Formats: sequence, structure tokens, C-alpha cells
Amino acid sequence: MTHTFNRALKIAPSILAADFAAFGAECEAVEGQGADWVHVDVMDGHFVPNITFGPAMCAALRPHIRTVMDVHLMIAPVDPMINAFVDAGADILTAHVEAGPHVHRTMQAIRAAGCKAGLALNPGTPVEAVAPLLDDIDLVCVMTVNPGFGGQSFIESQITKIRALRKMIGDRPVHIEVDGGVDSTTAPMVRSAGADVLVAGSAVFRGGSVSDPSAYGRNIIAIRNAAGA
Ligand code: DX5
Ligand code: ZN
Repeated sequence: MTHTFNRALKIAPSILAADFAAFGAECEAVEGQGADWVHVDVMDGHFVPNITFGPAMCAALRPHIRTVMDVHLMIAPVDPMINAFVDAGADILTAHVEAGPHVHRTMQAIRAAGCKAGLALNPGTPVEAVAPLLDDIDLVCVMTVNPGFGGQSFIESQITKIRALRKMIGDRPVHIEVDGGVDSTTAPMVRSAGADVLVAGSAVFRGGSVSDPSAYGRNIIAIRNAAGA
């Protein structure tokens, strides 16, 4: 577990935009180029209309990630799979509000298994869903696209949600992560609304490759500078 809480800006590249045939090397490459966390998108073809991979892939990636392995579960029902992803070495395990009948129990189960618990909100999920769980979570993931695919356009209406969340969280040690359509144009909006973790897939991996990853570094710096500006 390498995760410690702070509100400093963190860039979390999503390996959904990496070379699927070279995930381990891609994680190392993007960390070498300045990633703060690595965001790992798990999709089941049921909760979202796309399939990626499961706990065996996460376990295989674990030795290649030295920062924080941030696992985003887009699966339902999520409860039966929690232990498998904790055993795979996730530092943070995020599940969607809609991923089971008892979201409070889901968050409790993630923490009880020794992991940080994240709660993800779809663009259509109201921010009020977080209020009863504020002391049971370590991260809120605000989806700024509908989950399932990389490269979609940022949904600007979610900025209001990020702002409301920042207020609601107050001094609690809960990260605000934003996922979907984050690039150097949208990063300043989400950062100033209160986000501290910026997930970015296409905006980080574009123009580079595992054998020539310098573009990843330039892209990360561009997002970081834009968000800091
Ligand atoms: C979408 C995923 C995101 C996705 C972001 O369902 O949860 O993490 O990879 O990709 P971009 O940054 O390309 O929108
Ligand atoms: Zn994600």
C-alpha cells in the first residue's frame, strides 16, 4: 500500500488507452514519465457495454506498478468480486453507486478487506448519493463521461457536481477523482472545482508508444500545468 492522503494534484493515466498487448511495460513507461497513480479500468460487458479484463490481469500488473494501483470496477454485481480484486493488489477499489443493492455494505466490505474504498458516480447519478457515505469512503470518482469507453467528450454539467462534492466533503480525507474526457482544456475546470485526482486516458497516451514514451511525459506535463494554472 503506497497510498497516503493529500489534496495535491495527481495525474492518473488510464491504461484503457495503452497498448493492451504490453500493459506491464506501459504501466512502467507511464510511471517513468511522471504518472502519480495508475488507473485500471475493469469492465464486464453488463454494467457497461464493453469488456476489458478481470482480477488475474490486475494481479499480473501489480509488480509493474510502483505508485498507486487505482482500480475502477465497472461491474455488477460487484460484491462477489471484491476479495478477488483486493487479493490482486489494488490500493484503491472503486465501485459504482448502482453496482449492487447495498452500496454502504459494498464500501464497508472493501475497507474490511484492507483496501481504500472509492464510490463512483455516473453522470446521471445525483451528488446526494454520497452524503450518507462520507465517513465510509476514501475517494469519490465523478464520471464526466458515461462509463464504458475512452476518448469520449467531457460532460460539462458535472462541474457543478464536483463543486457540491468539494463542499460536502469539507475536511474529511476523501479524494475527488474525475474520470472521462480530461485533457489540458478541461483539467483547469475540474481542478478549480475541487478535484485532486485527474484520470486521463487518451490525453496521456496519444502520440507515444511503449518503445517511445516521451510523449506521455509531455502530455502529463501539459495537463498538470494547465490544471495548476
Ligand atoms: C471510462 C473509463 C475512463 C477512460 C477515460 O469508462 O472509466 O477511465 O479510460 O478515458 P479518456 O481519458 O480517454 O476519456
Ligand atoms: Zn475509469
